[in-house]
Amino acid sequence: MKFDIAVLPGDGIGPEITDEAVKVLRVVGKRFGHQFNLHYGLIGGAALDEQGVSLVPETLKMCRNCDAILLGAVGGPKWDDPQAKDRPEIGLLTLRKEMKLFANLRPVKVFSVLVDATNLKPQVIQGVDFIFVRELTGGLYYGRPKKRWQTSQGRRAVDTMIYSEAEIARIVRLGFELARGRRQRMVSVDKANVLECSRLWRQVTEEVAKSYPDVELEHMLVDACGMRLIQNPTYFDVLVTENTFGDILTDEASMLVGSLGMLASASLAGVPQREKRIFGMYEPSHGSAPRRAGLNLANPIATILSTAFMLYYSFGLNEAAQAVESAIAEVLDEDYRTYDIMSEGKTKVGTKEMGELIAGKVRD
Ligand code: IPM
Ligand code: MN
Repeated sequence: MKFDIAVLPGDGIGPEITDEAVKVLRVVGKRFGHQFNLHYGLIGGAALDEQGVSLVPETLKMCRNCDAILLGAVGGPKWDDPQAKDRPEIGLLTLRKEMKLFANLRPVKVFSVLVDATNLKPQVIQGVDFIFVRELTGGLYYGRPKKRWQTSQGRRAVDTMIYSEAEIARIVRLGFELARGRRQRMVSVDKANVLECSRLWRQVTEEVAKSYPDVELEHMLVDACGMRLIQNPTYFDVLVTENTFGDILTDEASMLVGSLGMLASASLAGVPQREKRIFGMYEPSHGSAPRRAGLNLANPIATILSTAFMLYYSFGLNEAAQAVESAIAEVLDEDYRTYDIMSEGKTKVGTKEMGELIAGKVRD
């Protein structure tokens, strides 16, 4: 089969990690007989530097004509001026919104060989396998008003958290659907003791739950959830939450799998169902790590794993997706590690070597 993929490397380590994911894609194409047409585009700081906007119109147009997007990372100190009108992150947020990527899936699954790569006790993280469903196109990130202004009493700023019933229902439904295919447990995370948005969220979730009597639903306050994730992470199966809470909690959860460099993500424009292909954007959950850029240090696994999700969710190539995941597991089993997951007695490798090792396993 033929697929068109928009490749947006972005900033910092973005280009290096996307190169490795592309390497793996090419090998997948050869082994499974598929044609992946890659279309490169500008986004983030790279786009600001070259064209003066964080999302180049041609990039958006190109994305609309593709089957999926592979993205590296955006941002960096160079574009961090708090007075700036446009910022690299705005490019990413606009792309998410324009492509209607309302569901951000971030699976947190411990590779058992990495149990020694974290700060937590092995008995706490052994067997961790849950998935975050983060609402991605609403809440504080997009709500208006959003501004800073001068008053006689000094400066002020406002961000707006806003959610509609429809926005809540569609993401919660997606969570329930995923839970059905897993261990039938869903935790909905909110701050209903304080926030009106969360009270609506809880109400709508209860209403949607009526169609999913086979899934056990629990509401959890976001602060308690932050604690429980560290105290007893095997407790969770599916977690569903709004945009900002999901952003924060998934960085926290990445520590369970050893490093942010291991946390993949899929941002989808629809509900994943068997045999249905959904447009999606695939990017690691981590940022552009500017201090590591250009040093062949960064861990490409989150990006490569995200590419496996692309094969699965957007192309329906389950066997190919499985091959990529197994390749990652095998390379880790053979004790190869990038700096972020390095521990004593293992073999330290760079970004390129890690990508080549994984591509090599897919080839076999
Ligand atoms: C993420 C990132 C982004 C976000 C930034 C880069 C805008 O932190 O994907 O988690 O906050 O969504
Ligand atoms: Mn984040």
